[in-house]
Amino acid sequence: MRLGRILQQNLRYEDLQRIRATNVHVSVNKATLYRKPLAIRNASMQWMYDLNGKKYLDFFGGIVTVGVGHCHPKVNDALIQQINKVWHTTNIYYNEPFHAYAEKLASTLPGDLKTVYLVNSGSEANDLALLMARVSTGNYDVIALRNGYHGMSPNTMGLTGHSTWKQNSPHYFGIHHAMNPDVYKGIWGGESCRDSPVQTDRKCACSGGVCQAADKYVEQLEEVLTYSVPQRKVAAMFIESIQGVGGVVQYPKGYVKKAQDLIRKNGGVIISDEVQTGFGRTGDHLWNFESHGIIPDIVTMAKSIGNGFPMAAVVTTPKIAQSLANASHFNTFGGNPMASAVGKAVLEVIEEEKLQQHCKTVGTYFLKELEKFRAEFSNVGDVRGKGFMIGIEMVENKETRKQLALEKVLDIFEDLKDEGLLVGRGGHYGNVFRLSPPMCATKADVDFALPIFRKVFKKHAT
Ligand SMILES: Cc1ncc(COP(=O)(O)O)c(C=O)c1O
Repeated sequence: MRLGRILQQNLRYEDLQRIRATNVHVSVNKATLYRKPLAIRNASMQWMYDLNGKKYLDFFGGIVTVGVGHCHPKVNDALIQQINKVWHTTNIYYNEPFHAYAEKLASTLPGDLKTVYLVNSGSEANDLALLMARVSTGNYDVIALRNGYHGMSPNTMGLTGHSTWKQNSPHYFGIHHAMNPDVYKGIWGGESCRDSPVQTDRKCACSGGVCQAADKYVEQLEEVLTYSVPQRKVAAMFIESIQGVGGVVQYPKGYVKKAQDLIRKNGGVIISDEVQTGFGRTGDHLWNFESHGIIPDIVTMAKSIGNGFPMAAVVTTPKIAQSLANASHFNTFGGNPMASAVGKAVLEVIEEEKLQQHCKTVGTYFLKELEKFRAEFSNVGDVRGKGFMIGIEMVENKETRKQLALEKVLDIFEDLKDEGLLVGRGGHYGNVFRLSPPMCATKADVDFALPIFRKVFKKHAT
């Protein structure tokens, strides 16, 4: 009887609970959101439906992964057509979809970023980028930012700057963390630091367009080179162009460019982790590193790249790519025809539906409306982000910016869900609501979400 139900995939909520308790790794259970976890049966564009058919507006996109919309018809169609032709070849043979996709993806990137290596996850992409940086520079040490997130493989767990995401086992050598240039909670930052329609409410002494915060944080980066890196010889700096898991943290304008100059001066390359910020959702550019005025040496991408299909990529210059040619390097599934067909369809949809511009327009409207909540509610400390990558930092005290206690955050989170609105959480203390809807979400969806936020924030206001 049970087997029959499993084959039909029509499990009841209690079945899911039982299987979780007996057959699912505890870490998977820990990753599940909500005190009463949500069981999703199907989804369409920006909407998800639970086992009872209850409808939710998805403003998290499966952790910034459903880029163009759940089950987007064009992407579905591309996958179905490919499934009926050939699933798997590996790079031991040429396959058309991979080549068509590599050419298309490379055409979206500036400068010499023209060489594509497809892999299966963001962690894998960052691992490969790290390898290329070390092999191509001949240096070993790597710098990442505190509060950054780069994955869960041993190396990328090392790059990740959160104790909460680190297992007690050796997972990094030669990785150093620099002070996070967080203009809201950091030591320095003011009211015009951010590349966002909404600034912090901190006062600022900067004048003449020169951001002192950026310089101060770059001095801290320099100190890491001086005190921690052997002979200051560095292989790379990893940087998310906006921190995602860390709670949509934006750096002061100019920081990333200055950091790049410093790292290159000391022999290293810049690796832009665009796993969350890529594919247009930040509005101004397809790749958010462009908003920092840089062209990195290596770019890693995942999540929205496949709209939920497991795939990821590393794009770099031919010169850096060439450095791996001294020994063989291989990946069984990377660049498989199904992923490549999906990836190409995703890029086409972004272009055809002008989703980047759409994110800019609707996201800016959303941010300006959310800013009003900061004035209205004592617990809303900061609103930030760009396009469809938005953070709302919940605080206990606006003066000290101390995080709102987790239990209180979870009360709000649960209520938003019960009202039919799914958002994410991030930040080291889990007190930042993260809004990263599929890029097809509309102004009408935002107008549906805003009164829910108001109602729930009001209920929990102190
Ligand atoms: C910025 C960033 N880099 C890398 C990763 C790792 O990606 P994956 O979970 O696909 O390994 C994540 C995942 O959340 C991420 O947010």
